[in-house]
Amino acid sequence: MDLAYLAELPQEEFITRRENVFAQMQDNSAFIIFTEAEKRRNNDCNYHFRPDSYFWYLTGFAEPESALLLIKQKGLCESTIFLRKKDREKEIWTGRRLGVEAAPETLKVDAAFEIEHLAKIFTEKTQNLTACYYAQGYQAWGDKVVNAQFKEVIDWRPMLSEMRLIKSTAEIALIQQACHISALAHIRAMKQTRPNRYEMEIEGEIQHEFNRFGARFPSYNSIVASGENACVLHYDENSAVMKDGDLLLIDAGAEFAYYAGDITRTFPVNGKFSEPQKALYELVLKAQKEAIKLLVPSNSIKMANERVIEIFTEGLVALGILKGNVHTLIEQKAYRQFYMHGLGHWLGLDVHDVGDYSNERSRPLEIGMVITVEPGLYIASDTDVPEQYKGIGIRIEDNLLMTEYGNKNLTSGCPKELADIEEIMAAV
Ligand code: GLY
Ligand code: MN
Ligand code: MN
Repeated sequence: MDLAYLAELPQEEFITRRENVFAQMQDNSAFIIFTEAEKRRNNDCNYHFRPDSYFWYLTGFAEPESALLLIKQKGLCESTIFLRKKDREKEIWTGRRLGVEAAPETLKVDAAFEIEHLAKIFTEKTQNLTACYYAQGYQAWGDKVVNAQFKEVIDWRPMLSEMRLIKSTAEIALIQQACHISALAHIRAMKQTRPNRYEMEIEGEIQHEFNRFGARFPSYNSIVASGENACVLHYDENSAVMKDGDLLLIDAGAEFAYYAGDITRTFPVNGKFSEPQKALYELVLKAQKEAIKLLVPSNSIKMANERVIEIFTEGLVALGILKGNVHTLIEQKAYRQFYMHGLGHWLGLDVHDVGDYSNERSRPLEIGMVITVEPGLYIASDTDVPEQYKGIGIRIEDNLLMTEYGNKNLTSGCPKELADIEEIMAAV
């Protein structure tokens, strides 16, 4: 499959976003945004650098130690990029740098300066301005430079988050690709899983499939959790040997052109669900399918979650895991012991993307938003439940695009019906 044509957003998209910011800035103001420096992992080895999502969103520039300055003065708009200076010696060792000379044409900005001159140039360029849009608290030296110059500092996060929340057609194509690659990786994982393999072997299979289709990295550390490890929500040690009779929960998503996929599937290590596993799996699947029906524009994640909570509580009572009256149990939030996370989150450049997480995610969904839907049940073995359910953790997670017709499941290529999973696993 040739994915090259989809690997990048068109340059126009970044220009339009900056124009959109300029349009929202008050006159005689500055806007500044930084991306991080590389982080040391150990001795002289660094973590692989990944640009800040807000910075990338406005620049399409992926070098560390960079900043973008926008100035709107007497109605005129000027964009300036700050970046590392070209350094032949360093480039031989650690990679190419764009440099100030090529930057304006390549990034379609008005001017470029070396990052080491930022404080001086920022102070000069902004001396007659009245306000600065800036997100405090990420960069001590950035805070110092901005606060020394401005009394009025306006957080740009609400503005940019609102923009990032509604995805463009080009962004949706990239997210769809991330989701598609993620789905293929889960299918590969199902085919490669069997008793006595390490969880990390399956992590490797997932990574291999990502790389085969042009996604260099996962969008978060892959969770490959067998048996009771599935009850640790963000387990990513992936170091256990998978046991016959256990389930395997995999939460893994590809990052494609910086956009995230985020899929969870749960399936038996030996390819065949046991009766108690089946009962719990069917309950989670039922709740997920009901939630998908409700997650459409105008409805909210909170509203769909209320239905999930009803289904879970009824189901857990029927299985003897919860005891008592369903309504009372819901009021008491008895389900929290077994379902302790949210139903879903917004998805985009970040896996937990910008969005309104207040009031239990009650913001009405809108066309162009992408969200996850991921109910789960986690029955830790130290809970007082029938023996056969102990140590089982199940989550099923898909990614939904809000459309004028309702929603589109971007991860529908990843099987989740019990019979389909068993068939795939039996075929190898
Ligand atoms: N992979 C993290 C989450 O599903 O939220
Ligand atoms: Mn996930
Ligand atoms: Mn998720």
